[in-house]
Amino acid sequence: MTQDEMKKAAAIKALDYVKDDSIVGVGTGSTVNHFIEALATIKDKIQGAVSSSEQSSERLKAHGIEVFDLNSVDVLDVYIDGADEITKHMHMIKGGGAALTREKIVAAVAKEFICIADNSKQVPVLGNFPLPVEVIPMARSYVARELVKLGGDPVYRQGVVTDNGNVILDVYNLDIIDPLTMENNINAIVGVVTNGLFAHRGADTLIIGSPEGAKVILPL
Ligand code: 5RP
Repeated sequence: MTQDEMKKAAAIKALDYVKDDSIVGVGTGSTVNHFIEALATIKDKIQGAVSSSEQSSERLKAHGIEVFDLNSVDVLDVYIDGADEITKHMHMIKGGGAALTREKIVAAVAKEFICIADNSKQVPVLGNFPLPVEVIPMARSYVARELVKLGGDPVYRQGVVTDNGNVILDVYNLDIIDPLTMENNINAIVGVVTNGLFAHRGADTLIIGSPEGAKVILPL
């Protein structure tokens, strides 16, 4: 099985978590793109979706799935999204697709976060993947200097503007032994919109695509 086939297996399994007549929280990325295709096969059973990016919204609409404004939705039972890294504690790094802020907002509203990923995303400790940080453009250099003080090596993601009109710093070489504290410390820097650590709001369930198919993993 290729990595992409493993992503697809995890994405299809996530349909088990979609309730009839519900509005589904939908993330962003190549794994979620498989999920959107799977969701389209049951689109008559759901009301629609709330999306974490313009990219996913376009895909959902192209499949005939209604996209709701989060402000008009009271209850979101599940949010289904990928990850760049995930630990056995269900802490994640996200934001490889630059959608981290909207992802964090939709995840905060949802009762349950279902992470879908291929098996390359499981790691013992976070931080091999550079941590994305969304930053207000005028604060970019200041925030970069503050991130260096936290031990990281920030790199400006050239040519990328987020759906919120901001920029991304990818932070290499951070020592993320304590993801909860690191998430707080980075968010406390003035000019940071949010960072890609999902520790305070981690996943509730992980569906991993593996050569043996999709496996459901719960937190320890
Ligand atoms: C986008 C994300 C994605 O969930 C993450 O980058 C994983 O992407 P993929 O499914 O393509 O591996 O956080 O901002």
